[in-house]
Amino acid sequence: MAQEVRGVIAPGKDEPVRIETIVVPDPGPGEAVVRVQACGVCHTDLHYKQGGINDDFPFLLGHEAAGVVESVGDDVTDVAPGDFVILNWRAVCGTCRACLRGRPWYCFDTHNAKQKMTLTDGTELSPALGIGAFAEKTLVAAGQCTKVDPAVAPEVAGLLGCGVMAGIGAAINTGNVGRGDSVAVIGCGGVGDAAIAGSRLAGAAKIIAVDIDDRKLDTARSMGATHTVNSRQTDPVEAIRELTGGFGADVVIEAVGRPETYQQAFYARDLAGTVVLVGVPTPEMKIELPLLDVFGRGGSLKSSWYGDCLPSRDFPMLIDLHLQGRLDLGAFVTETIALDEVEKAFERMHRGDVLRSVVVL
Ligand code: APR
Ligand code: ZN
Ligand code: ZN
Repeated sequence: MAQEVRGVIAPGKDEPVRIETIVVPDPGPGEAVVRVQACGVCHTDLHYKQGGINDDFPFLLGHEAAGVVESVGDDVTDVAPGDFVILNWRAVCGTCRACLRGRPWYCFDTHNAKQKMTLTDGTELSPALGIGAFAEKTLVAAGQCTKVDPAVAPEVAGLLGCGVMAGIGAAINTGNVGRGDSVAVIGCGGVGDAAIAGSRLAGAAKIIAVDIDDRKLDTARSMGATHTVNSRQTDPVEAIRELTGGFGADVVIEAVGRPETYQQAFYARDLAGTVVLVGVPTPEMKIELPLLDVFGRGGSLKSSWYGDCLPSRDFPMLIDLHLQGRLDLGAFVTETIALDEVEKAFERMHRGDVLRSVVVL
């Protein structure tokens, strides 16, 4: 039996979000219905609402979520009703070339639930990133559910569904940060701070945080930065070189997504170092680099997709580390809010006041 629940939708371009009744169908083959317990507010939700992603309004927003599986469709064996799960937006196919080569984070064929959730008048909803979890319940593909230790608070677990996983993964998966490494993180919002926490976890000896806002640098320090650079006042490339004996950092993580910070990241790495690009640029952005600089610098330049994570490997591991007190995921939760406070949370996020506001249901 389809059920009716409350959810937050973005009705049209730049219109305020509102709470509507959502019809959630029973799970079909390969699908699951999840009772959402918590869902973080991410910049991408705001981009959906602003029409920056596509025009498939109305959207059912929310995608950084954790909850309990309520029911599953036929053929679902990995999760069962009652399981506590974190949702992910990259359920991979398992059969494309990327999957077969053991690099499923580059899977070309990720999938979501086949059935649609709707409004009560039958209007089909587009769930944000194929999840739509600012709702009491949501329908997803079973592959979007990863079981983790239920001892963790849902508002903490849900963080791994997007931004925090992107940052931690940029450090530990894409950047392959190792014990004793020097790391520079440019841009210390939620993603950059998570990259700092991931670098600390990986045993980096020096973690240099770069931002234009001193408030962000204070938070970065609490997340594990050993040095901070305000790039409004100091040339960050020179500062990073100075702090690394003149060489540049072993790993530089760009978590802003702007031409000037891409450029800084390129030049701040040690000649054998790695640049990890996790900040997402817009289509018109470009940088120009002398080819001799491209040729003359070794190391590597990599982009990081969702922290190149493998949910089934990384989510349970990071939750265990959190429960053991070795990774403070709770530090990313600035506030918990109710479903009807999402619009206000967007404003606070826009002002840069929060790392994460998390809706708790
Ligand atoms: N140099 C250094 N830091 C900057 C600059 C700059 N020129 N411009 C902005 N910043 C800082 C901001 O002060 C802020 O602390 O970058 C940070 C960006 O943080 P958020 O806006 O909170 O964004 P976040 O959620 O961390 O995401 C960062 O990663 O995954 C991507 O799409 C995401 O592109 C975005 C980036
Ligand atoms: Zn695949
Ligand atoms: Zn997100």
